[in-house]
Amino acid sequence: MIRHEHAGGIQLRGDELESQTAHEVLGWALGRFHPRIALASSFGAEDVVVIDMLMRLEPKARVFTLDTGRLPAETYGLMEAIRERYGLAIDVYFPRAEAVETMVREHGVNLFYRSIENRKRCCAVRKVDPLERGLVGLEAWITGLRREQAVTRTDLRKVEVDRAHAGIIKINPLADWTWDQVWAYIRARDVPYNALHDQGYPSIGCAPCTRAVTPGQDLRSGRWWWETPETKECGLHVEKG
Ligand code: ADX
Ligand code: SF4
Repeated sequence: MIRHEHAGGIQLRGDELESQTAHEVLGWALGRFHPRIALASSFGAEDVVVIDMLMRLEPKARVFTLDTGRLPAETYGLMEAIRERYGLAIDVYFPRAEAVETMVREHGVNLFYRSIENRKRCCAVRKVDPLERGLVGLEAWITGLRREQAVTRTDLRKVEVDRAHAGIIKINPLADWTWDQVWAYIRARDVPYNALHDQGYPSIGCAPCTRAVTPGQDLRSGRWWWETPETKECGLHVEKG
């Protein structure tokens, strides 16, 4: 990835962009950074909204995903549906084979249930390390993060300097969207979405670490459900301490 030399300027511009719509923020970001900008997509409800917006703004916009090797079958089905709908070539980053082999030999394939340390180890190997590779050569990356999603995300801005990733610019166009807005957009544009959403899964990650929630429960309570809300970040979106 490329350290942005005008991070201060972006920070100031970020104040103005904060009041703009998702569409405007994305339009600005593409104008400024394309083709050195890409969406990181896990194909959750937020991400398919951003994909639809991106494809309308710039059909050659780049989208990448981190295939941890433990994704639910439904997510692979959706990847195909998105590929077909938009004619989109998705860049897929896998974990490094030797790192996975060493980890599972030492700690087992389902190590994450045993401790937070093990869970973070698995996320580091299967998500965070591949993300580092996905960001190589980019000046900015886009996410589907929303403030409402978690106690760890309430301070999210639409345009940020990502200090955890060498000062690359991070664009969160849906930062101020509600869950209802996300679904209104999906319905209005008939955007393909993950079949698990209709089975009680609001937030979808890896299969062994995601389960359905009952109506009214916190949206992310089905992710790493054995942990407390404060620890529920996989390392993609946290500043290194
Ligand atoms: S996580 O950190 O808890 O896994 P979450 O599922 O809420 O994240 O997704 C937040 C944003 O992180 C997504 O909108 C997407 O931009 C990015 N993201 C999460 N998982 C992946 C993935 N597997 N591949 C690419 N991007 C991802
Ligand atoms: Fe591993 Fe679970 Fe993290 Fe996926 S979400 S990388 S399976 S610990």
